[in-house]
Amino acid sequence: MTNPVLSVDSSSDALASFGTDADGPYERALRDGLDLFLCDVDLPEWGERLPIGRFLGPADQVDQSVIDGSFDGVLDLGCGPGRMLRAALSSGRRSLGVDVSSAAVEIAHAQGLPVLQRSVFQPLPREGEWGTALLLDGNIGIGGDPRALLVRSAELVAPGGRVLVETHADPAVDRSFSAILRAGGVDGDPFAWSQLGARSLRRYAMMAGLHLIREWKGAGRSFAEYATSAQSSRSRRRAR
Ligand SMILES: C[S@@+](CC[C@H](N)C(=O)[O-])C[C@H]1O[C@@H](n2cnc3c(N)ncnc32)[C@H](O)[C@@H]1O
Repeated sequence: MTNPVLSVDSSSDALASFGTDADGPYERALRDGLDLFLCDVDLPEWGERLPIGRFLGPADQVDQSVIDGSFDGVLDLGCGPGRMLRAALSSGRRSLGVDVSSAAVEIAHAQGLPVLQRSVFQPLPREGEWGTALLLDGNIGIGGDPRALLVRSAELVAPGGRVLVETHADPAVDRSFSAILRAGGVDGDPFAWSQLGARSLRRYAMMAGLHLIREWKGAGRSFAEYATSAQSSRSRRRAR
């Protein structure tokens, strides 16, 4: 498998999403280094600060351990500016990032990273052939329908491939809500989002035909690795 050519698909979903507002809070936070908060339309007193510095910085030790445990052929779903992609490529993994945000994709492209500006629900290269799909930094929330996202992720990886998910710190959390992003006193448009802890994720993963391989924690973050059914004996390289 070779790295796909960089390209931009401007026909991304018309629906509001985390990064579809070209001059929204996420884009401003990425471009101007502002603090970014995830808020719930129905819970005005609730807001969670998102680690924009982590998104813009280099992969840390925990990020690298995720890459070290990945199969070759890494597809980073909602890759942002591309720190995981950079780490995956540096570790010799053939990789591709996908993100709807023009600001995130611009930053990634400026570093020469292979990122498609596209929704994970749109057609993607090499569907069913990827070794690992990443859903990190809360990206299990994309679309606000974890089952649909896991079904889509499973469809993108090869038989026996992996879906690596970063889960909420509380294993029991299972909530889908109408979210907004806030940065520099500006609120974005509402979009559907979810948060899932490791225990809640198991149920959705089962519905998507995924099998639990392991769950672990590192530096205050929580992760789960799932496998698709191995219907093929295709060999793959795993560098653990
Ligand atoms: C919480 S941020 C994660 C940032 C990212 N993992 C990183 O390393 O910087 C969520 C990301 O998912 C992207 N996103 C949201 N909906 C998406 C979709 N349907 N398809 C692809 N990317 C999406 C957003 O644009 C944003 O970059």
